[in-house]
Amino acid sequence: MTLIEAVKARHSVRKYIDRPLPEAIIKELEETVAQVNREGHLHIQLVTREPRGFGGRMAYGTFSGVSSYFVAAGPKSGDLEEKIGYYGEKLVLKAQQLGLNTCWAGLTYNKIPGTYELDDNEKIVCYIALGYGQTQGTERSHKKLEELSNVSDATPQWFRAGVEAAQLAPTAVNQQKFYIEYLGTDGTSGKPQVSIRSRFSMVGYTKTDLGIVRLHFEIGAGIDNFEWVK
Ligand SMILES: Cc1cc2nc3c(=O)[nH]c(=O)nc-3n(C[C@H](O)[C@H](O)[C@H](O)COP(=O)(O)O)c2cc1C
Repeated sequence: MTLIEAVKARHSVRKYIDRPLPEAIIKELEETVAQVNREGHLHIQLVTREPRGFGGRMAYGTFSGVSSYFVAAGPKSGDLEEKIGYYGEKLVLKAQQLGLNTCWAGLTYNKIPGTYELDDNEKIVCYIALGYGQTQGTERSHKKLEELSNVSDATPQWFRAGVEAAQLAPTAVNQQKFYIEYLGTDGTSGKPQVSIRSRFSMVGYTKTDLGIVRLHFEIGAGIDNFEWVK
């Protein structure tokens, strides 16, 4: 399964069957965790055979059968949330490629002492549930490409493909509070420029969402076709 296939196949799954992750899958996930932590200077941790993190009554979204999850943590900084979104979604798509299902969780999890490590300057941004789903999930409603971006007949095909992948990105309560703008070529670097920004949200989590959406856009558009501007 390619990354764009994983983008298209992924839906949030909250109910899991009682099937432990095989050792080979755990090993591969651990390797990917180590890689994203190196790249992103993060401290994301994989927890397995631990049913309490998603046990008991939850505020919203009913989870069941979750016994594996990522604790998405890292050193406190202004861009921690966005980095967690970007690198956490790398893990989500890797899990999808390995035949697993996932669900981001900003609210509905329990921190279980002794199952993760945090240095003094680190904090947990959210959890990501992981395992073999009872189903593959269902497609949610999406905002139109034109609401999410300035895509038009005048913008390149790769830009449309990027926005289409961004449209499929998970966002907290499916809020999709982002806008991606094709800015054209400014003449200095030669590469077309693209910007991405959050829109106002009462719910929050827009920074984490933005990191997730950024990764999806890169996968759809092809990272060599453009450069990001602030
Ligand atoms: C940052 C973030 C936090 C989320 N928090 C929760 C949560 O606490 N509980 C929950 O059930 N789902 C949570 N979700 C999952 C979203 O509800 C889900 O991604 C969205 O409805 C879109 O559905 P999809 O992932 O199937 O495309 C969260 C998603 C994101 C990106």
